[in-house]
Amino acid sequence: MEVRKLTGVIGAELLGIDLSRDLPDADVAAIRQALLDHQVIFFRDQTLTPEQHIAFARRFGVISTTPVYRTLDEYPEIMPVVKEPTDQDIIGDTWHTDETYHPTPPLGSILYGRQVPETGGDTLWANMYRAYDTLSDGMKAKLANLRAVHTNDFLSANSKYRNSTRSTKLREDVGSITSVHPVVRTHEETGRKCLFVNHPFTYSFENMTREESLPLLQFLYQHSAKPENTCRFRWRKGSMAFWDNRCTMHYAINDYPGQRREMHRITIQGTVPA
Ligand code: SIN
Repeated sequence: MEVRKLTGVIGAELLGIDLSRDLPDADVAAIRQALLDHQVIFFRDQTLTPEQHIAFARRFGVISTTPVYRTLDEYPEIMPVVKEPTDQDIIGDTWHTDETYHPTPPLGSILYGRQVPETGGDTLWANMYRAYDTLSDGMKAKLANLRAVHTNDFLSANSKYRNSTRSTKLREDVGSITSVHPVVRTHEETGRKCLFVNHPFTYSFENMTREESLPLLQFLYQHSAKPENTCRFRWRKGSMAFWDNRCTMHYAINDYPGQRREMHRITIQGTVPA
């Protein structure tokens, strides 16, 4: 298996591996190490059935089911992420980390490209270790003991309307899910510190109003999403992205009007951020 870095700061393609096979433990360990080293890893030209996608994901932990989006009837482990040519809107077109409103946000997500547009539809990832590392010592000290409230309230509001404009459907029976997490998280496998706030889900700092919190939060979002902290992936049919949701944000680009894109996403259960 060859590892080819996408940029100097985040992302790598793993070449020469067929994920439809029952992988030996050594290959699984090498993939996990690559994920820890590069935060998001990519595979090309994979031909996977839903069962093989699920089997691959299970090698990295317990599959968690999204609490807010609809999943496939036949495979509740899989969330379809679809844009039909007539859709205006998509999900994920803002910098975010998956499901941080959850008490145990996913360890990672594995997204498989079943149909991709001829042009456009790329996804970006940002390295949240580097976002933290490149802050001043003063800002690091300021953030050290801060905690933040995360909620699905913005996402789940107006679900009926949102479901009318896009094919990836929100569940309409979901209430408010709220959790409080440290603003600077220590990754339980690498021991490295990273920023753990994101625009759609972080509501405020704990014990502060949203108004009081937003100026600093906005600075942290802008700082994290600087181009030099990111990578951009051009999908092909059969491409797979596996990101470490503990130390990244990502952004799906809605720039392919009139074209169809169909992905399958599986998330792997994480732990309580600390
Ligand atoms: C997501 O935010 O999980 C979707 C990413 C994508 O569609 O590229």
